[in-house]
Amino acid sequence: IMSMLPPMAGQPRYLGTAIQFNALLSNQTYVANLLGEFNAAAPGNQMKWVSLQPQRRKWFWDEADEFVRFCQRHGLRIKGHTLIWHDQMPPWVTESLSAEALRWEMLNHVRITVARYKGRIPAWDVVNEVIADKRGDASHHGDGKTYRNSLLMRKLGPDFIEAAFRAAHDADPSADLIYNDYNVIDGGDKADRMYEMVRGLLQKGVPIHVVGFQTHVKGPELEIDGDVAAWMSKAAANLRRFADLGLKITLSEIDMRISGWPASERRWRQRNAYRALLAMALVQPKMEGLTFWGFTDQHSWIHYEFGADEPLLLDEEYRLKPAYHGALRIL
Ligand code: XIL
Repeated sequence: IMSMLPPMAGQPRYLGTAIQFNALLSNQTYVANLLGEFNAAAPGNQMKWVSLQPQRRKWFWDEADEFVRFCQRHGLRIKGHTLIWHDQMPPWVTESLSAEALRWEMLNHVRITVARYKGRIPAWDVVNEVIADKRGDASHHGDGKTYRNSLLMRKLGPDFIEAAFRAAHDADPSADLIYNDYNVIDGGDKADRMYEMVRGLLQKGVPIHVVGFQTHVKGPELEIDGDVAAWMSKAAANLRRFADLGLKITLSEIDMRISGWPASERRWRQRNAYRALLAMALVQPKMEGLTFWGFTDQHSWIHYEFGADEPLLLDEEYRLKPAYHGALRIL
């Protein structure tokens, strides 16, 4: 059983997973493993904008509510995921909305959603993935180098980020508010730009409390000259500078692709890399908890996004993989 993360500075820490909603309702094996291993959860899709408001002013709360009830019944800490994201946006949110209407709809979505679960959801991913992967992708409406080119960025400019955090804070002042992004854990140019953005938000007094490092990693990329140690120290140094800003940090969507390794070596290399990753993460200052993006290879977004793989700790039949045992020694 993994869910007993050692506390840090007297504070308990959570170990969470993204939830496959359909399995939650229909698969007893799934639920038994979930409750056996984790004490926190995030909805895989049920709280995204397109799920909650697929048509303008028509809200669909059933699945999100059901998810929240399930978590409350079983004592799982909930992370709300995710309020503002360029992906999985409702089809009615288009270029043809005026900037004013778009801004109103965006803030309305944030306010209504956070307010509905006030007191029940202690932390929200407020803004997801606004940093451009490469400088060249950046929107000319941003500062020319930082941000992803998205509908919201084109029409509203980067101020929508701050506005979303403020609206979420107004709707539930006690909730921790998170900025979340991918390919930023081990430092580099994208992480540098995220750091500057976060620091700027703090300087302006924007209510932001946590930075989420998604940590969708490719196992082989963690090995530098055949060893994961160098990657781990880069990541540790990067995580530390965010903690030094006074923010909490978390690894928020952990999974590890293994298809780049030779077939006969995949499982033990994944075990070693997972063990090193989690060991590194858990000793970082201000690491509030960890969230895996699923726990069984039966249900992973990786299969349809990047091709069949085995990114998680349990195999397709819920058997414990070497990666699980590697993780367990640490967790
Ligand atoms: C993924 C879900 O797991 C899939 O079911 C869905 O089809 C696409 O989104 N970054 C995020 C998550 O912040 O919301 C994404 O989740 C994975 C990448």
